Amino acid sequence: MAFPQNFLDELTARCDIVDVVGSYVQLTRKGGNLFGLCPFHSEKTGSFSVSPDGQFYYCFGCKKGGGVINFIMEEENLPYPDAVRFLARRAGMEVPEEEGDREAGRRRQRLLELNRDAARFYYQLLQQPEGRAVRDYLERRRIRKSTAVNFGMGASLDAWDVLLNAMTKKGYTKSELLTAGLIVDNKRGGFYDKFRNRLMLPVIDTRGDVVAFGSRVLDKSEPKYMNSSETPVYSKRRVLYGLNLARKSKRPNIILCEGNLDIVTLHQAGFNNAVASMGTALTQEQVRLLSRFTKELVLCYDNDSAGKAATEKALQLLGSSELSVKVLQLPLQRTGDGALVKQDADDFIKNQGADAFERLLNGSENGIEFRMAQVAGKYDLGSDESRVAYCAEISGLIATLPGAVEREIYTARAAETARITPDAMKLEVQRARKRLLNRENRAALRKELNPAALSQPAERSLRYDNIRSAMAEEGVLRLLLRDDSLFPPQPPLKEEQFSSPLLGRVFSLLWQAREEGRAIALPALTGALTPEEMSHITSLCQRPESLKNGKQALADYIAVISGEWERRTAGGEDPLAAAMRKNKYKNKSGTGGKRNV
Ligand code: CTP
Ligand code: MN
Repeated sequence: MAFPQNFLDELTARCDIVDVVGSYVQLTRKGGNLFGLCPFHSEKTGSFSVSPDGQFYYCFGCKKGGGVINFIMEEENLPYPDAVRFLARRAGMEVPEEEGDREAGRRRQRLLELNRDAARFYYQLLQQPEGRAVRDYLERRRIRKSTAVNFGMGASLDAWDVLLNAMTKKGYTKSELLTAGLIVDNKRGGFYDKFRNRLMLPVIDTRGDVVAFGSRVLDKSEPKYMNSSETPVYSKRRVLYGLNLARKSKRPNIILCEGNLDIVTLHQAGFNNAVASMGTALTQEQVRLLSRFTKELVLCYDNDSAGKAATEKALQLLGSSELSVKVLQLPLQRTGDGALVKQDADDFIKNQGADAFERLLNGSENGIEFRMAQVAGKYDLGSDESRVAYCAEISGLIATLPGAVEREIYTARAAETARITPDAMKLEVQRARKRLLNRENRAALRKELNPAALSQPAERSLRYDNIRSAMAEEGVLRLLLRDDSLFPPQPPLKEEQFSSPLLGRVFSLLWQAREEGRAIALPALTGALTPEEMSHITSLCQRPESLKNGKQALADYIAVISGEWERRTAGGEDPLAAAMRKNKYKNKSGTGGKRNV
């Protein structure tokens, strides 16, 4: 991706990392750096640091790091060139584009325009005589016109090429329609509309772009729901249906349901804070997205075993996030013949009304209450034997609570459930807690006792072959980045002397910047490295490096590297290992992914 270097240098100079990151993350100053809650993984205490001097960020928890462009790539889910354009727009700079690059950006934009035009087309069909079948369906489901409009709902017709023809007429190509997932290739040279005779539900992201479609059949046929496949503008892990509306809600939390139409019914009943993940389990990316708009999440999954398992999974995922979580359990419904069946939010509102849902919402339990009820449900507390088993399991659960007060409250509750004295239960919990802490300590100790493993890059594909040399190579890079005046005018090492191809490459890039009289800084590497490589290089800059004896340290590092290099090249290396190393280089360069400047 060849943006001119002087443009990139000016861009990174104008986009101060503290400003840019600060508009996404609340940062507080601690010494020379700023800290905040990492936007890339769930955490309650800030391990995300921003260095104003180095102009980079690094998270000590998830080990992601890089310069300002990396941050935007990660946070806005943009590929490198689009992140550059994003920042340029923010800084009011014009992007000197090459034809090829402009083309890629345009294609993405076209895809979004196509989606919007398709959504408009389906929307208009819904209002016209042909949309009758879908309108009747909406009526059967008691979805009002204004609600349908609010969600931009539409109709696809019982025909093979209505959308294909309309969009081709507007100038879109078949290839664009295929990429957008709106038509399907029949493998005999023909194409047909993917969505036919369905209620169309455009999926709109928080920027207001139509990124995909969900859809439902009008009868009992299968598949009931059909959604867009993944496209260059749609990744279902990163989107929540209804969040474009829910983000504007005045309600104090966000309700997460399973089904798209649950959301529709909830919004219609006044719960305009409801969202759904479209047929997937809650993902880390969605948690991040949610935490940008709310502090409290209410899980409202179906009250069957699948829904309970999904709730448990979501609670585990949310356990480490700063979002507080509640669980709203929908009661089972008694049918005419007396059987109990599950109802979803849509059924519940239709059966019991909005006020009843509001009461459920207010009474929803927190995560631990839900889990404790699940555990209690597993045991027949009438028998002594099961009471003992219950105590063993519940004390293990309570022991995982970080707060002592919380542990005490739920210990008392569990004691009541098991009908034993609070003191006895307290003892059980204390024992369980001790076991838990011991286990954690042992795991930490094992890690500490294994420094070689500790110095390895987190990313497997970057593993070092020669730790001794690699540690010295890291040291050279650290010194070069901190104070390049320590270095002689000529490069003291050649790239091939580095045992780690990545570190060698970075050394060359930095040296090149130095020769061109540019600033030697981490952010300048973004275009040449993958995000994983960039995170690793940022991480090695976190290790302490004293500049007091910088000259001596540099000489020592260089001696180690050249010594190891000689050993390898003078035939000191085992021929098998040498062959494997060669192979590895070959594979690496074949993996693509990295961009060359
Ligand atoms: N889903 C899907 N593909 C399917 C079935 C379901 O993507 N074949 C997703 C849809 O997002 C759907 C959600 O899972 O909204 C829940 O599905 P389900 O419980 O089967 O449907 P309901 O939401 O109850 O749908 P309805 O009330 O319309 O029957
Ligand atoms: Mn339903």
